[in-house]
Amino acid sequence: MTNYDETKVPQYELPCPLTCMDGTKCITPEQWFHVRRPELLHLFSENIYGKTPDLGNPLRAEIIEEGLALSKRALRRQIRLFFPQKTNTTATHMDILCYMPNQIKSPVPLFLGLNFAGNHTIHADPSILLTSSWIDEKWEGVVDHRATEKSRGAQALRWDVDQIIERGYGLATIYYGDIDPDFDDDYQNGVHPIFYRSDQKRPNDDECGSIGAWAWGLSRALDYFHTDESIDYSRVAVFGHSRLGKAALWAGACDERFALVISNESGCGGAALSRRCYGETVKSINERFPHWFCNNFRKFNQNENNLPIDQHQLIALIAPRPIYIASAFDDQWADPKGEFLAGLYADNVYRLTSNDGLPTKEFPPLEQAIMGRISYHIRRGRHGVMPYDWNQFLDFSDSNIPEINT
Ligand code: GCU
Repeated sequence: MTNYDETKVPQYELPCPLTCMDGTKCITPEQWFHVRRPELLHLFSENIYGKTPDLGNPLRAEIIEEGLALSKRALRRQIRLFFPQKTNTTATHMDILCYMPNQIKSPVPLFLGLNFAGNHTIHADPSILLTSSWIDEKWEGVVDHRATEKSRGAQALRWDVDQIIERGYGLATIYYGDIDPDFDDDYQNGVHPIFYRSDQKRPNDDECGSIGAWAWGLSRALDYFHTDESIDYSRVAVFGHSRLGKAALWAGACDERFALVISNESGCGGAALSRRCYGETVKSINERFPHWFCNNFRKFNQNENNLPIDQHQLIALIAPRPIYIASAFDDQWADPKGEFLAGLYADNVYRLTSNDGLPTKEFPPLEQAIMGRISYHIRRGRHGVMPYDWNQFLDFSDSNIPEINT
């Protein structure tokens, strides 16, 4: 039975982000960066998301389409990144769709986020290439798990492309199914076979599942941005909603090149504290989505107190880089309060590393965004990405992104 009753949240004690495994408390940023941060990263890799191999070289990139878009206000660029090929791999490439403001000539800051149903769904622009990857049939216009013309623009409400461009940012997106199709096939499709050693058939218990693979794909896009002169590589914000918010957080934690991180309703295994067991739990997520996390995470089904970490420490791994955590009131499954508390309990690491953090200890009223280096809001309404969310993310980026560059 799912618990939605605050009085039934079990008693719990959270592991302290700043206390090292040998009991020493970090009192300097150096201790945090050299001792505690690597310890936590290792614990998250081993117990929750799984380790992701380093394949070495950046992926080969080819610009496959370019043109003016959005009534000439934007430049559209579509880049194909090729995965290294092994005979047993079906995944060959992922496509990045970029829109850059046309009126700005200098390198632009950019939001990068995975999408759920194909790049062509984020805008009705007819020049966006349709993905040939597997897609869940629950999405509009998908027939036999493939994209059709009917699905163009179907997710446009979630992507405020016009406003993003107007405010001087670029937007880049990748269909997450290009990296790893989102169903449990024992990791035979997607990029996992590329990661396997010669005698390997599936990930070991401490090796990455799909979320780890999606996060890996985000970092490969960042490698590419390094080579694209119209993008300011030092000002790339990684954004994600729901399961893709979990991937964005993990990407931001692992890859310190991401300048800013935005989690929208990422819930269990994302920003929400596991120990609260409110809404979705470790057991329910591992049972419904056995391919998302590493197998070791299953040891903590109904056993959250034995986790050596909790999700506030995932937020802490992003410090001192700005982080925005967003929730929705009708999305109790994602435990809005647990998401807020993860931000609050990461505050000590932010204060140590940046002298700034979450400017409140109180859970805020609806639609009163709390803006600090850790920011938070809870809006009215259901699970999804709404214009209200993008308005806050853009304001937050306006005040935090220039600072990063100095
Ligand atoms: C399910 C799942 C969540 C996930 C969400 C989504 O509801 O239980 O963990 O965040 O799907 O990705 O939309």
